[in-house]
Amino acid sequence: MIIGFVQTKGGTGKSTLAQNVAFSKSASRHYDSIALVELDHQGTLRSWWEEREEMGFKNGGVSFHHISSTQKEVFQEGIKAITQHNDLIIMDIPGEGTGRLHTRFACAFCDVTVIPMRQSTNDESAFLDNLYPIIKDIVLAVPEKQGQFHVLPVFTHPRAGLNKIYAHFRQVLPPHVTCLKTVYPARAVYENFNRKGLNLNEYAAVVASNRKYRQQVEKAIEDIETIANTLINIGRKKDGATEGK
Ligand SMILES: Nc1ncnc2c1ncn2[C@@H]1O[C@H](COP(=O)(O)OP(=O)(O)OP(=O)(O)O)[C@@H](O)[C@H]1O
Ligand SMILES: [Mg+2]
Repeated sequence: MIIGFVQTKGGTGKSTLAQNVAFSKSASRHYDSIALVELDHQGTLRSWWEEREEMGFKNGGVSFHHISSTQKEVFQEGIKAITQHNDLIIMDIPGEGTGRLHTRFACAFCDVTVIPMRQSTNDESAFLDNLYPIIKDIVLAVPEKQGQFHVLPVFTHPRAGLNKIYAHFRQVLPPHVTCLKTVYPARAVYENFNRKGLNLNEYAAVVASNRKYRQQVEKAIEDIETIANTLINIGRKKDGATEGK
């Protein structure tokens, strides 16, 4: 199964979500081999992965792949090889600066495409202008793809009324795009956990003796498990749950 985090608008949490979902317990419960794939030449995840390797952290069933070429053939070959060797693929799909090639091809490859979006007119109009035309093209070419595009409301206030958020997105989103009934809250812990190559669970172990930090990271782990579960369930339902463990 391929889950892609895509946004043509920068800084909406794609890379952070991709790295955390790849290392989530929900993912390892269902899948033995998980590939975290960065399609962004900026290499946010690659630098983090290199730090992990330097620190000698264990990656369990998770492997990392960086495809930065915008050449269609190189991209397709790379993805094909990764899908042959992995059960779950989590893709971090780049934004505006990288050109549209990756965005279009990567979205077409995904089974579940997640669009992290803030509740802001800026994000919403950038989506309608840049990403939505790509989605419309894909759905027009392959009508079965129309159920795969889901907005994940991001950087929500941790105590925000969820029904209000969903109602807002339901109103502004165009056809073929639904709003997930789960959110990715804004939390300071997401800005800090991954320094020195750590993942969320490893960070939890490091801050275990500090009650305040421990509680924050526990909440973040809960967010991620809920998001990962939601996405995996969508994908497994589509597949008739034939994939994975
Ligand atoms: N839930 C969150 N709450 C608060 N800050 C967050 C959260 N998730 C990520 N961040 C921070 O927001 C910034 C953008 O996140 P991230 O790099 O994951 O976004 P991106 O969409 O991959 O950005 P880019 O378009 O540059 O690739 C980072 O500094 C990150 O640490
Ligand atoms: Mg990124």
